Amino acid sequence: MKIETQLRSADLKDIFRATGTRARGRRGILLTKKAKEPPNGTITPPAQSSKTTKSSSRYSIGMFSAGEARCDRWQEMAHAAQTLVAQSSSGASTKETLATVEALLGPLSVIETFHAYPGELMMSALKDALGRRDYSSFSRITNRIAKAIITGSYRRSVNAWKLGEEGEMEGNDRLLKDYFDTGDLTKPYFEVLIVSDDPTTEQVRQGRVELRQLRRPEDPFVYEAVTVPSFEEGVLSVVMNADLQAVVIKDNFRFKSQFDAPLLRTYLEQHLSQECGSLEPKDYGVALARAIGKIRPELDVYLIVDGAVEKVASHLDSKNIRRIFYGIEDLMEIHLALLEGVNQRYDTPYFNNLKNYARRPIGTFHALPVARGKSVFNSHWIRDFGHFYGANIFLAESSATTGGLDSLLEPTGNIKVAQDKGARAFGCQKLFFGTNGTSTSNKIAVQAIVRPGDIVLVDRNCHKSHHYGLVLCGGQPLYVEAYPLTEYSMYGAVPLRTIKKALLDLKAEGRLDRVRMLLLTNCTFDGHVYNVQRFMEEVLAIKPDIVFLWDEAWYAYSRFSQFHRMRSAMGACDALRERYASEAYRAEYAEFKKEHGKIDPKNPKLLDTHLLPDPDAVKLRVYATTSTHKSLSCFRQGSYIMVNDDCWESTEATFKEAFFTHTSTSPNLQLIASLDVARRQAELEGYELVGRSIELSLILRREVNRHPLISKYFSIATNAQMVPAQYRTSGFEDFHAEGVSWKTIYDAWASDEFVLDPTRITLLCGSAGFDGTAFKGLLASKFDIQLNKTSRNSVLLQTNINNTRSDIAYLIKVLADMSRELERKLSMDPDEKAAFDARVKSLVTDVPDLPNFSRFHDAFRENPHSKTNEGDMRTPFFLAYDAENCTHVKLNSKEIDDLVKSGQAVSAKFVIPYPPGFPIMVPGQVITQETIEFMRKLDVKEIHGYHAASGLELIKPGLRVLLREVHL
Ligand SMILES: Cc1ncc(COP(=O)(O)O)c(C=O)c1O
Repeated sequence: MKIETQLRSADLKDIFRATGTRARGRRGILLTKKAKEPPNGTITPPAQSSKTTKSSSRYSIGMFSAGEARCDRWQEMAHAAQTLVAQSSSGASTKETLATVEALLGPLSVIETFHAYPGELMMSALKDALGRRDYSSFSRITNRIAKAIITGSYRRSVNAWKLGEEGEMEGNDRLLKDYFDTGDLTKPYFEVLIVSDDPTTEQVRQGRVELRQLRRPEDPFVYEAVTVPSFEEGVLSVVMNADLQAVVIKDNFRFKSQFDAPLLRTYLEQHLSQECGSLEPKDYGVALARAIGKIRPELDVYLIVDGAVEKVASHLDSKNIRRIFYGIEDLMEIHLALLEGVNQRYDTPYFNNLKNYARRPIGTFHALPVARGKSVFNSHWIRDFGHFYGANIFLAESSATTGGLDSLLEPTGNIKVAQDKGARAFGCQKLFFGTNGTSTSNKIAVQAIVRPGDIVLVDRNCHKSHHYGLVLCGGQPLYVEAYPLTEYSMYGAVPLRTIKKALLDLKAEGRLDRVRMLLLTNCTFDGHVYNVQRFMEEVLAIKPDIVFLWDEAWYAYSRFSQFHRMRSAMGACDALRERYASEAYRAEYAEFKKEHGKIDPKNPKLLDTHLLPDPDAVKLRVYATTSTHKSLSCFRQGSYIMVNDDCWESTEATFKEAFFTHTSTSPNLQLIASLDVARRQAELEGYELVGRSIELSLILRREVNRHPLISKYFSIATNAQMVPAQYRTSGFEDFHAEGVSWKTIYDAWASDEFVLDPTRITLLCGSAGFDGTAFKGLLASKFDIQLNKTSRNSVLLQTNINNTRSDIAYLIKVLADMSRELERKLSMDPDEKAAFDARVKSLVTDVPDLPNFSRFHDAFRENPHSKTNEGDMRTPFFLAYDAENCTHVKLNSKEIDDLVKSGQAVSAKFVIPYPPGFPIMVPGQVITQETIEFMRKLDVKEIHGYHAASGLELIKPGLRVLLREVHL
């Protein structure tokens, strides 16, 4: 309960901060019965009570998900209203409670102007009841609204829209009731934002009624409209109201908000300066559409223009404007366009077809007995299999590609359409469904681009699928090292300087033409997110045609958070494409060239200079692979391959070959359907759900790190702990640090070399005496809490669109219980305490150094004298297929020490311990003492490529020398 209260008051404040609303005298909002609102329905909020302003931190919870903070505020208001009823009936003083209500109602009045529900009438009734001191009506209405908002029942139940049991409907409008009474309650509900010049309250109400009158039984959805009068409130609504699916922008509206919104203004000035710098009122519409596209690109925008509509239409350069109308000449057309726009996102062509297919009677004469389920449901022995999964999974199975099911390998029908929809939704040129996980998508992408002998700059710490992919296609990895986080036994990300140095060295040796690809993981398992735009820009300055493969296995949701999108492969590619096409960039580049001339690889200053690519030479070739199943509602192994490639036409054929190479000819149909559905959900509610998952992670971070007892034993690694200071020019340390605001975080995300994705929560458990593996086991066995990654002294928790506040509360309770228990045990028994301290020291202080990649043996290097470390992994990998070429040496033997000393220990295998999960040896790598020591200290059970009983598998020294001679 205490936790809940803490969460609420902090969130509430931040919603204020997000809106940036100005405080005013307290009198105003406790409206007396006839209290008038300021002109244009302006409601200025009251000063916050000390209760809501006292929190010591000023961080930005509420920024990622205004919805959570809104729910909390209404919940708190419902509690206060109940207290008022009790106090007034018992004759107790209501003074303090009224102050709380006042402090809550002010900001809520502002927030609700951005939402269609509860609407003007309910809010007025609420304030009226309060003004009359009719606390029971006030409490009843508050409760109704709070419940409806928290449960989302206003989307499906007429009761939510009533003032009382028999009460008036919003706007006294029977149409709303008719819809809910007679309509299909399962119809999805959404809200439409109308931006229009200063309408009166009556005009707004009338507009809503008119739109409701257009409803037809055959409409697939139902919507309500919310109207705001300015550019700034348009932007705010889009940020705050996750129910919005479309925006109608009418000509002639003002720029400034009726509210004092300093944060919003900074945001507009900083990030929309191009659009807003020297805007004339006639351009507000298109500028607003563009601004909305940057925040929520999935929303449909419609322009209603009073003047020369044809002229405006021919100059539109905002991708998200679906249609332009001349005045409100045909309201029904607008209504239909709104529905159709949402329907395009709702439509899941493959899933729909599969459902239709499952309904039809079909005789199957192909291989797949489970298709249609007869072998299951008619069985005497496996009927429970059928009952467990239900009939549909069998009815929706087929091994045919006919009957509207299309073929994943050669899609021409609904899979193609589904993929095209995916491309639009995720902001890429092409999107492909992968049905064998990102493990396979990575191999497809690598093989599509890389030829034997090509050099690929690759994070040694990347997923093993890339290393295997390079073996298969014969690419030569040039391993670049991520910065180590030795104290947590994990790696961070690869610094830009390291990558630039490798490329400049190659350029100096005249071998830049051999480089094909840069392959990095964004974000990493542990949450390190690259400044993708900056990295690509500087790399392109050295090698303008390099291909980027960003492994975004953990980042499928990034498109639906404005923060994450700017640091995603596709988001950054879009931004760069726009930048390089602009005149402003040409001028910037001309200046750069004047100052630095041609890129001279011998000039060490270039490592510290922000390099700019030639806009005429640059080719944007960006690929991203995402494990859809890891963060969206998709079955396991579902993966998207995203492409944004200026040279796609010449790559398509090889991509297809690679796709054929790795994709099963019997792809799972349910998987394809879920890839289609995951896209639908992401487009329609990704903004809300992703925002909430980020918000939850912030709540968890704060509660653990601030809790006096929990934080004694456990802590969650902050941004500063995961990203060393030299990569944080903004100085940003922690979401919950003093003075941190929405802007602080935005600036850090816009500028820093790396940031930490808050949803990747490294919970440090070493100080509680647990190593990661043991703690993971304990959480699973005793508390039914599951997670997957661990390190020597930490476990990795993640929040995603599946998590709820209850999940967070449960975890916090478990940590609090454990901490209490530890406290009790350690205070009782000094021996136990001494053993505990020793264990903590070993876990937290005596950590092994992380071994860097040493080098490939000269036998597997084209030029052993080259400054760069690329090598041929494929030859040693296949050499090891023949047992005669290999020898096994025990890890704890003198023999291995001797071989290492003489430089003759060369790995025949990938050796990948879990955790940490990256290869500490690759085929052809010279093994160093550092690596041996690391392995000796490893206390994990699972080490792929190594069996303790037989020892390390090495390439026989004699054979190696032989090969070297052949090579050289
Ligand atoms: C960075 C990275 N890439 C790729 C993968 C493989 O993804 P999938 O499980 O979808 O095959 C993983 C799996 O953990 C990963 O961490």
